[in-house]
Amino acid sequence: MGRVVKWGIIGCGVISKLHCDALGVVDNAQLYAVCDIIEEKAKAKAEEYGAKKIYTDYKEMLKDPEIECVSICTPSGMHGQMCKDAAAAGKHILCEKPMEITKEKMDDVIEFVEKSGVKMGCVFQRRCDPKFLAVKEAIDSGRFGKVILADAYLKYFRSQEYYNSGDWRATWELDGGGALMNQGVHGIDLLTWMAGDVESVFARCATQVRDIEVEDTAIASLKFKNGALGNIEGTTSVYPAQDTRIEIHCEKGSMIVSDKGILQWSIEGSDEQAPEIQAPVFKMKDDPTKLPGTSHVVPLGDMADAIINDRKPAVTPREARKAVDLILAIYQSSDEKREITL
Ligand SMILES: NC(=O)c1ccc[n+]([C@@H]2O[C@H](COP(=O)([O-])OP(=O)(O)OC[C@H]3O[C@@H](n4cnc5c(N)ncnc54)[C@H](O)[C@@H]3O)[C@@H](O)[C@H]2O)c1
Repeated sequence: MGRVVKWGIIGCGVISKLHCDALGVVDNAQLYAVCDIIEEKAKAKAEEYGAKKIYTDYKEMLKDPEIECVSICTPSGMHGQMCKDAAAAGKHILCEKPMEITKEKMDDVIEFVEKSGVKMGCVFQRRCDPKFLAVKEAIDSGRFGKVILADAYLKYFRSQEYYNSGDWRATWELDGGGALMNQGVHGIDLLTWMAGDVESVFARCATQVRDIEVEDTAIASLKFKNGALGNIEGTTSVYPAQDTRIEIHCEKGSMIVSDKGILQWSIEGSDEQAPEIQAPVFKMKDDPTKLPGTSHVVPLGDMADAIINDRKPAVTPREARKAVDLILAIYQSSDEKREITL
């Protein structure tokens, strides 16, 4: 058996399940310790997934010499400080999205972590999804020609109960925003990853339905550095929730992709069909009949492989910050009612 990276999880809430499930699947990493300020949550997680150690203070956990890498699964506005503390303790880091919620904190984390020499990867699991990868590959190959128009429709439903389920949710201080910073960030990352970096944005944000301090709906008009134009529509207040939908129109053809799959794949004068997409099937290491939450299997396996083979993780902090920088520019544009250049 090859080398296995011992893992710690900081924050035992909703998303920690997917990190634990993924560690139950990949063969190059294993769960070793869990930490939550609420001891019962850490205990329950340790029991369910067989973690050897439980901590209620992440700084104590970071002293544990057995741990090589930690997943940061705490409220978004805590990520930066925890990443810096992990790096100072010599631990590699896999940080949940968004990596942080302000420019200053992102600058600070990136500078600190790069100096420290540990590896830091960020979770944008949709980048590993075969249908989105296929679109990215097709754009990069040049077969569709240059991008003309690139749109992301990110229309979700989150109830008031969801927002009430955690003190940090939908607060500027710890969530850093609403429909875009928490939910839409995945699709915004996909859009800029596929279509290129954004030069400027004009946007309008609103809080229409939920009793929250951040936006529940936003629209943004984009100009990409490569000359393409685009739109983002994001909300958490429409019923029913719609599939994430990305539409890329290029000089020679169009691709439309949603959670359902590739909806359109047309190149002028070519009979090229959309590639067949097969979702991988994963089984838990200790129980071959149990299928885990799979979205984090590739990001966790990639992070462990990056550590073992001394290479960069698939999504670096400099990549992960691009979606956050764009969202912050959208907020600024809406506040100041003017176009913002990134
Ligand atoms: N990749 C994805 O698709 C995805 C999905 C959901 C959430 N997330 C991200 O994961 C993060 C957590 O979200 P969530 O929905 O799991 O939140 P959550 O509120 O369910 O869980 C956060 C946990 O962190 C714990 N915590 C708070 N302060 C702590 C501290 N100082 N030390 C240790 N534990 C602490 C809380 O007690 C809680 O159990 C957020 O940044 C969110 O954006 C990502």
